Amino acid sequence: MAPVCLRDCKAWQDAGMSLSTTSNEACKLFDATLHQYVTWTNDKTLGGIEGCLKKIKEADPNFVMGHVISNGLELIGIGRSPIIDPEFRKELNVMSDLAKTQPLSEWEELHVAALETFAKGNLPKAAEMWDWILLDHPLDLLAIKLAHDSYFYLGQQTQMRDSISRILPYWTATTPLSSYVKGMYSFGLLETNFYDQALKVASEALTVDPKDSWSVHTIAHVYEMKAKIQEGLTFMEQTESNWKEGDMLACHVYWHWALYFIEKGEYEAALTLYDKYIAPMCLASGSMLDIVDNSSLLHRLQMEGVHLWPYSRWE
Ligand SMILES: [Fe+2]
Repeated sequence: MAPVCLRDCKAWQDAGMSLSTTSNEACKLFDATLHQYVTWTNDKTLGGIEGCLKKIKEADPNFVMGHVISNGLELIGIGRSPIIDPEFRKELNVMSDLAKTQPLSEWEELHVAALETFAKGNLPKAAEMWDWILLDHPLDLLAIKLAHDSYFYLGQQTQMRDSISRILPYWTATTPLSSYVKGMYSFGLLETNFYDQALKVASEALTVDPKDSWSVHTIAHVYEMKAKIQEGLTFMEQTESNWKEGDMLACHVYWHWALYFIEKGEYEAALTLYDKYIAPMCLASGSMLDIVDNSSLLHRLQMEGVHLWPYSRWE
């Protein structure tokens, strides 16, 4: 993949999404954060997501879209809730207060409003608002990804597919991260049972960037849904080196790999993946998605009658 070219104030303006800050550094860090969110990875060369968010606030503490992406990632990560976390409520209030005291563009105001709606617990409405943003800004990757993830959480498969299919014609092969948008489309196709098209689109995305773990994930689902267990196992073995460093999704992809083994009745092989990758990744990240994968894998094994406790590996 080509080195990441981060957009400064002028580049964001040229893209039709002017950011209300005079700090080129803040604009570039906003882009770096967005890049990592879309590619499901903490990129050390970019400073990791947490590192970038910290630096955005240092570069311009009043940069509203910096607060938007920071709070958006917290909310979509589902690890913190403003309902029970007063510190997080404060962070959201800072964003809202800054938005009231600055002349923002309508695009920025809509992003703030969508996050406020999400924070109040109305995710379906927030997802609609990101789709409104995309009517005028089809290249807005933040709105694209937040809408995509929201529809995923809500189980709204048709909206997940169509949210991307509406904006896809505006993306060309030379637009940075366009293959990742294709990857999102492939997942929408899969979720609406267009398995062959999903496989084709995800494969095209992987031709551009084999590290695209969301497209890998689409293919994992396709083989699962079509009960092509051996094809799934072969695909995992052949592509592992591409996606295993993608720290946000690798645990889930290994979980899919383990499912194939469970379906074959090869429980020891599933447990080996659990011991080597799934459990350690969960312990390292502490992310809610990884915790769900861990517990659901053990639960599935238990339902298969596998004796898990006392579990000698944990002694
Ligand atoms: Fe999955």
